[in-house]
Amino acid sequence: MHTTLLPNTSAKPISAIGVGVMPFSRPGRTIDEAVSVLHYCLNAGITLLNTADVYAPSAAEMGHNEIVVREVLNQWNGDKSKIIVVTKNGIVRTGLDWNRDGSKDYLLRAAEKSVANLGFVPDLILHHRIDRSRPFAEQAKAMAAVHQAGFAQRIGFSNVTSAEYDIAQEETGGIVSAIENERSPRFRDHTDVVERCERDQIAFLAWSPLGGEKDAKDLGSFFPAFNEVAKHLDVSAQMVALAWLRTHSRVVIPIPGFTRISTAQDSIDSTELVLNSDQIEFLNASPAGDGSVYPD
Ligand SMILES: NC(=O)c1ccc[n+]([C@@H]2O[C@H](COP(=O)([O-])OP(=O)(O)OC[C@H]3O[C@@H](n4cnc5c(N)ncnc54)[C@H](OP(=O)(O)O)[C@@H]3O)[C@@H](O)[C@H]2O)c1
Repeated sequence: MHTTLLPNTSAKPISAIGVGVMPFSRPGRTIDEAVSVLHYCLNAGITLLNTADVYAPSAAEMGHNEIVVREVLNQWNGDKSKIIVVTKNGIVRTGLDWNRDGSKDYLLRAAEKSVANLGFVPDLILHHRIDRSRPFAEQAKAMAAVHQAGFAQRIGFSNVTSAEYDIAQEETGGIVSAIENERSPRFRDHTDVVERCERDQIAFLAWSPLGGEKDAKDLGSFFPAFNEVAKHLDVSAQMVALAWLRTHSRVVIPIPGFTRISTAQDSIDSTELVLNSDQIEFLNASPAGDGSVYPD
């Protein structure tokens, strides 16, 4: 599989797509399913696994998805030194409520727990979502403290605007190493963030690249232009979407989620799909969707 080295993000080459591990913490999912699908991906050359402490079947099980990643890697016989693990902290859950805590104390404690859940220091810890109750600059500095404490090899931010990106780089002394923002046929904002990532040669991890768990299977009917190109090329609309996202910059790494080998393979096949300039222009000009899958 095609890989790219973005030295400001990782010392290891990043595969053209990563995998979002989130679905394996939905209630009812088993570790055996995660092992089967994720080993398939790792064996196919995917090198980036995306998780978060908050991906868990319930509030009481915070860290569940990180433990899934640990188990999957423990049971894998391949070269683990090539795998990039990205996790995220800063969303808190109490019962059915989801909130945010961007305080330095919390982010340090959460990062320490992530290291314990994973069983190793992750390549990247990202600040998951801005805590709107406190200044962002303070939260950015807190992430620098997470890095300084040795809980992550590198740090980054998720769900930030370009103005927030600038603040994050300023407040951390320029060590922001990855961004994880939504980007898909449905949601095409934050091109200015992609441009900053390209300028700084850091990864832009595109989350919900197929429009999210509920709508992904119907991507072709929601976005007919993608269907049209897919029919012409005799591939799936989802393959076209993943290949199209990658045309926006070499730093854009889609991180689809999947729970089946067939959808994993289809997504992996997208890394070999090359769209021509007419197709790219046609898709870029096609209408986007109704906004974010998970609005801020
Ligand atoms: N930073 C953030 O705030 C944030 C927010 C949301 C998500 N994320 C990350 O982004 C990852 C992906 O997002 P997501 O799961 O919400 O949405 P998504 O990747 O857009 O969609 C996931 C769905 O796509 C289906 N799928 C995958 N590949 C396919 C293919 N080639 N053909 C047809 N269907 C396909 C999967 O089906 P099957 O299950 O049937 O295989 C799954 O239901 C998450 O796992 C998480 O790591 C981050």
